[in-house]
Amino acid sequence: MKSLTVQIPLIESSSYDIKIKAGLLKDLPKIIEDKLGVCSKMIVTDSNVKNSGHIDSLSLCGEVFVIDPPGECNKYMHTVVEILEQMEQKTMGRDSAIIAVGGGTVGDMAGFAASIFKRGVPIIHVPTTTVSQADSSIGGKTGVDSSISKNAYGAFWHPAAVFIDVETLKTLDQRQFNAGLVESIKHALISDLTYFEYLEDNIDTILNRDNATLEEVALFNSKVKSSIVSIDPKEKNQRRILNYGHTIGHAIESASNFELLHGEAVAIGIMGASIIEIELGIGNIQRLERVKKLLNKLSIPLKIPANITKEQIYSLLSRDKKSVNGWPKFALIEDIAKVHIDADNQWAHRVDPSVAGIAIDQLMG
Ligand SMILES: NC(=O)c1ccc[n+]([C@@H]2O[C@H](COP(=O)([O-])OP(=O)(O)OC[C@H]3O[C@@H](n4cnc5c(N)ncnc54)[C@H](O)[C@@H]3O)[C@@H](O)[C@H]2O)c1
Ligand SMILES: [Zn+2]
Repeated sequence: MKSLTVQIPLIESSSYDIKIKAGLLKDLPKIIEDKLGVCSKMIVTDSNVKNSGHIDSLSLCGEVFVIDPPGECNKYMHTVVEILEQMEQKTMGRDSAIIAVGGGTVGDMAGFAASIFKRGVPIIHVPTTTVSQADSSIGGKTGVDSSISKNAYGAFWHPAAVFIDVETLKTLDQRQFNAGLVESIKHALISDLTYFEYLEDNIDTILNRDNATLEEVALFNSKVKSSIVSIDPKEKNQRRILNYGHTIGHAIESASNFELLHGEAVAIGIMGASIIEIELGIGNIQRLERVKKLLNKLSIPLKIPANITKEQIYSLLSRDKKSVNGWPKFALIEDIAKVHIDADNQWAHRVDPSVAGIAIDQLMG
């Protein structure tokens, strides 16, 4: 079994383990019992994950809350309230725990519920998508959408443990699987050349969902994400590099009315960041082509859909939640695994709208 311990400074219980193993699910009841001791547990999942058999071994060790329909359409406060009320109805107390089995939507909602139930109970993440295994289960961000914006309400609530069973990815839809891998490519780009080369060399095996390769990928992701989160747990500066490709990506995702999956939009955003880097003299066409070649393996169109206008993207960029004076800051790299950091040690930068405009023009479908 691969294993990693994450240290989070400034937080009372300051470390947690990430365990990675194909087939780990069947051992989880015992592992969780050993970890938490005897306590009441609420397993939060969604109907796709349940119907795929991923809570079969766990459902005996606690109550089960199934989110249905799955996905972003239910990622609202009312679902979190339903989880909390079901826990109360089952007379669960401060000694209870929540186990999230599913993708990022399940993890974000279950984590948020855990952060406020009786002023906070442990959350264990069992991520089952490429997004949640690479990204959302590590780092402690939890939350829900509002009718106005995504992830509007939430809390930082770090998990007690993360258990990654890459075997669960076997049942994930191909489009979701591929889109989630964009976060892995992002991780490699911002911090690990060896990882980037590993992805280049093994992308076909990854796409064939080979367990040993997926375990390796999960370990690389866990190391990258946890190392960045532990130097900047509350996203004051360095953690913003995790937003690489996300500034233009988020705008395209919204402009597509969420027809594009997050990772698909971020893939275009990564191309946008690469063009901006060239314009600023910190990137080059060879690197852009190298990144494009890997992204192309995921069968994701790397152009902005034809029905989206440049004006829409500008307007969304100016309303980006990380905007300062009506314009967002961009996370950029100077090379693979070399973050662009300015003289004031800032990891995100103001980019002139005209420079961003050049990138958007080149990405227009
Ligand atoms: N907290 C964070 O740091 C963080 C980071 C990235 C993304 N997110 C959030 O994560 C969410 C996206 O996560 P996601 O892409 O995992 O989406 P998701 O949870 O909606 O899962 C995608 C789809 O796959 C299904 N599914 C999940 N696991 C499956 C499996 N093993 N087999 C078959 N079907 C399965 C789900 O039911 C759903 O239909 C967004 O809400 C985003 O805001 C949070
Ligand atoms: Zn993302």
